Amino acid sequence: MVNFSIAHRLLPLTLESPQLVDAIQIYCTVWQRDATEAYDYFSTNAQYPHFRGFVVYVGNTAVGVGFGNQTLPGQWWHDRVATRIGAVHPMLQQAWLLSELAILPDYRNQHIGSYLHDCLVQQAAFPTLLLTTQMSNHGAQRFYQRHGWRVLHSGFAFHPGQSLYRVLYRQQKATFAIPD
Ligand SMILES: CC(C)(COP(=O)(O)OP(=O)(O)OC[C@H]1O[C@@H](n2cnc3c(N)ncnc32)[C@H](O)[C@@H]1OP(=O)(O)O)[C@@H](O)C(=O)NCCC(=O)NCCS
Repeated sequence: MVNFSIAHRLLPLTLESPQLVDAIQIYCTVWQRDATEAYDYFSTNAQYPHFRGFVVYVGNTAVGVGFGNQTLPGQWWHDRVATRIGAVHPMLQQAWLLSELAILPDYRNQHIGSYLHDCLVQQAAFPTLLLTTQMSNHGAQRFYQRHGWRVLHSGFAFHPGQSLYRVLYRQQKATFAIPD
């Protein structure tokens, strides 16, 4: 457990943890998804290598969730991005995907998202971090740009005719021994 103020706690997210229910609830509220779909999404990602996730609590209220994993061929996100930037693109070779970062609306703009972001990227022992965010989500793009993310692909639709997503990358400053 990491404390960043008296009132805030960051607890690890795993499939077995009690935090999973809270994480799914936040995800469903922020993205307006149903719990079954959300559980499938969380459980699929949690089985990928180097999965790490956290839930942020303010007092006893869960207010934010973030997680990610190593991105590898055969994973849904990886294969779709690989068709756009090329499977041999250097940034896809040893990369950790920040799959989710979401704070409940009433708790935004209080630096909780920044703290959660920083905790996630600090534990990601990979030279490159990747994420996708909707092109229309200008607030999130400002947020990521301020946290060192840059554009790798300017935008494509994962599903024909649906929203365009921008691929962002972040180079880690430290030199890491790449995990097996
Ligand atoms: C993006 C997000 C995680 C930031 O969390 P946060 O706790 O508000 O972030 P901080 O307080 O540390 O920083 C505030 C910054 O977040 C962004 N932001 C604020 N409100 C936002 C909102 N309603 N939606 C999207 N981004 C927002 C802005 O860039 C803001 O910076 P600004 O001063 O330049 O406007 C949070 O707003 C959120 O959960 N948004 C909805 C889900 C989402 O867009 N996730 C990321 C894309 S996958």
